[in-house]
Amino acid sequence: MRLKSFSILASAALVLVGTSLGFAQDEFVVPDSPEDIVAVRQALMKEDGGILRQAGELSGAEAVAAMQTVITNYSHIPALFPEGSIVGDSGALPVIWEDFDAFTAIVDTGTEAAKTAMAAAEAGDGTAYGAALKALGGSCGACHQQFRQPQ
Ligand code: HEC
Repeated sequence: MRLKSFSILASAALVLVGTSLGFAQDEFVVPDSPEDIVAVRQALMKEDGGILRQAGELSGAEAVAAMQTVITNYSHIPALFPEGSIVGDSGALPVIWEDFDAFTAIVDTGTEAAKTAMAAAEAGDGTAYGAALKALGGSCGACHQQFRQPQ
């Protein structure tokens, strides 16, 4: 199984803004309209969901690439939640902007876990990798519980 290191999200953002603007392939751009912002962050979340589902079976370079994508996606989360950006089928809750520090703190915690998982995969330490994956998954749940509509 091969994971693309270039994330779907980055391509989605590029499609939305148009490649004719001449951005570098890996440069991330937050779209202008709330509709596009919601679409891009939902695509990012879905990509992370797919990665987390299979990450437990990965090791070595594949695991490293998977964690790199999550780290990149997490780095885009704060910018993809500009104040009041709830439109269409967005499942985001307004409380995000009442406590944006708590929101971004969860992003930071998850990023640290993904970095730990990446280092463990590089070192070939499956036990540490599994533990860090669990912590990473915990960050998804912690944020959803507080900041996303119940499913
Ligand atoms: C800091 C907060 C935060 C973190 C961390 C986070 N999410 Fe989310 N997630 C959200 C919010 C808010 C939404 C609703 C976004 C919207 O619909 O506008 C969401 C939506 C989703 C969706 C639904 C996307 C759709 O198509 O509607 C999935 C799947 C998802 N997240 C998976 C994950 C996974 C897997 C992780 C962990 C690797 C994760 N999320 C981490 C806040 C977070």
